[in-house]
Amino acid sequence: MIVAIANQKGGVGKTTTAINLAAALALRGRRTLLVDLDPQANSTLSFLDIGQVSKTVYDAVVDGTCGLADVVIKSPVQNLSIAPARIALAKLEAKLVGEMDAHFRLKDKLAPVLKDYPQIVIDCPPTLGLLTVNALVAATHLLIPIQSSYFALEGTDDLLETIEKVRARPNPALRILGVVITMHDKRTALARDIRLQIQKVFGGKVFKTVITKSVRLEESPAYKESIFTFAPDSTGATEYYRLCEEVMDRA
Ligand SMILES: Nc1ncnc2c1ncn2[C@@H]1O[C@H](COP(=O)(O)OP(=O)(O)OP(=O)(O)O)[C@@H](O)[C@H]1O
Ligand SMILES: [Mg+2]
Repeated sequence: MIVAIANQKGGVGKTTTAINLAAALALRGRRTLLVDLDPQANSTLSFLDIGQVSKTVYDAVVDGTCGLADVVIKSPVQNLSIAPARIALAKLEAKLVGEMDAHFRLKDKLAPVLKDYPQIVIDCPPTLGLLTVNALVAATHLLIPIQSSYFALEGTDDLLETIEKVRARPNPALRILGVVITMHDKRTALARDIRLQIQKVFGGKVFKTVITKSVRLEESPAYKESIFTFAPDSTGATEYYRLCEEVMDRA
């Protein structure tokens, strides 16, 4: 299972979902790799100090002699390793322009490590550019976080169009695993309306588990911990654990 967490909208909960889903999968005992494809490196820095990182996914993807295994670092979470990012990833598009295999770089680099990591989670940047396309080409499944906000569905058409393009040629097997509503506030009528709208568009693809707004989820990266060790009794921990169960059931 290779799950890409993607939505070109910024700040919708991709990274929060990637780090906590990866941690939940790892807690179940199977080796898990979190691939950080975002030049902002938020996933990386949620578990590691910048000083621990030397080579990154960028090196693996541009340098034929560098394997993904050469950049992977063990995280403090048991069974969870990270393929880290750094700002250099932002140069990838320019670096690979004109290369015939530009869309397939990540897929090719993942192939030799699949036997070591039966579960892979890819955190994407907030664009539909080459990095996200590399994730969609490499992935078996796509998980879309949608923020419970008034503009929640804006841009959905562009995302679906990109998914269809990827499915048409490079990755026909790509499946939409589901849509998870994030930063939901149960108390407001607006949030309930938005949830209905999202369900109208995505139907049964919407996960039953909704991630509510929680300060604990915001805080945990600063302590380099997942929600499961930082605040194991919080609603955030319960919700991401349930989301992981739904992911396992659907995958
Ligand atoms: N359920 C939640 N409750 C409260 N805050 C949240 C929740 N989920 C995410 N956040 C906060 O919202 C902000 C954006 O979340 P996150 O970084 O996960 O989004 P993103 O989609 O990865 O953003 P980007 O597009 O910049 O990569 C962060 O400060 C994060 O801590
Ligand atoms: Mg992010």
